[in-house]
Amino acid sequence: MKDRRIFHGDFVYSKSFDRLVEYIGGYLVVTDGVIEGLFDRLPDEYDGLTIEDFSGVMIPAFSDLHVHAPQYPNRGIFTDALLYDWLQKYTFPLEARYADPTFARAVYDAFVDDLLRHGTMHAVVFGTIHEQSTGYLLERLEEAGIDAYVGKVNMDTDSPESLLETVDGSLLATESFLDRYSSQNHAKPILTPRFAPTCSQRLLTGLGKLAEKYGVGVQTHLVESKWEAKESVRRHPYASCDTEIYERAGLLGHGPFVGAHFIFPSDKDVRILKKYDGYAVQCPDATTNVIAGIMPSDSLADRGVRLALGSDVSAGQSLAIYRQAASSVRLSKIKSFYEPDARVIPFSQAFFAATKGGGSLFGKVGSLEKGYSFDALVLDGLSDPFLSLTPAQTVERFCYAGDATNIRARYLRGKKI
Ligand code: GUN
Ligand code: FE
Repeated sequence: MKDRRIFHGDFVYSKSFDRLVEYIGGYLVVTDGVIEGLFDRLPDEYDGLTIEDFSGVMIPAFSDLHVHAPQYPNRGIFTDALLYDWLQKYTFPLEARYADPTFARAVYDAFVDDLLRHGTMHAVVFGTIHEQSTGYLLERLEEAGIDAYVGKVNMDTDSPESLLETVDGSLLATESFLDRYSSQNHAKPILTPRFAPTCSQRLLTGLGKLAEKYGVGVQTHLVESKWEAKESVRRHPYASCDTEIYERAGLLGHGPFVGAHFIFPSDKDVRILKKYDGYAVQCPDATTNVIAGIMPSDSLADRGVRLALGSDVSAGQSLAIYRQAASSVRLSKIKSFYEPDARVIPFSQAFFAATKGGGSLFGKVGSLEKGYSFDALVLDGLSDPFLSLTPAQTVERFCYAGDATNIRARYLRGKKI
């Protein structure tokens, strides 16, 4: 017996980066957690079935392609330093505490709850170097039913003693993590060398062998600041750009490739990212808080790079990906002010990155089109006493000025949560 539900109300989703689609008083048919269609008028074949009316606007759930779960307690504080100092002073000391699994469990429970509260149902997540604590994070995401890639972090140089791994120790723990979690349904492992300044070539090459053996992808920070881009190739002089370091290590082409920030890419960085169908993840608030750069999302889109959004907590201050969509547009305006060749991106492009664009990493998620997983949110409480908003304007207002209390209902794979 098929489980079929029909929802009646207003809907908004992104078809492509230049096109938001809106249905006013439409009908969404969901069968066994998968969308069968979205219609202006209900087709005859569904006559006689119960129709569930809702008020507000239904949209697809969000995808966060770059977030550090262990940094959750630091969000919105420690904004007085830029990347290198911020890592040393605030981030590394907090991450060292995840040697204690009891601390990790408490934080990761709160993190997963808050992710869902903000409507994020698909995520690419950094843990720490600690296998056991990161394993708990993956288990919690799996249990919550969130589509996720989760990484035990690797770092074996230029890190504080408390987070410094040996090459062999790091590879052994990573392989054990892969062995344990490769066959989960929703939350899966991904290799996570922190970034090139804290990883030796031997470590990266060892991870490349694991990537091939296990058919697993990689996430890292790519060309995130001028310092990082220079430091990466200084430490890895056999490569001419940051992205090439991972290609040379044999890490690419075995699974998803997720590069956070991608703010100062050379043409070669772009070429390599595209060759392996990688994602460039913009984290707008994180980059203004601690990195001080703006991704060229206009020209990357023109060059056909897959773009997504990330909260990058705790460089970013909140798990609200919808706010990152608004910030992404704002940053493109600032960039265009200082750089005459830069183009302002439309809101539709940012919303696409937050939903269908980023969601494409996980399969058919992030849209309300036929065949997509019914992972959706109902927004409410955004109407205006002075003018009537279209459904698309309601979504735009939510991204700019709403918060998690405007998410009135959440559906994950067809089930209300
Ligand atoms: N680069 C290396 N580690 C980090 C991190 O934890 N956050 C950010 N934003 N950039 C990094
Ligand atoms: Fe990050």
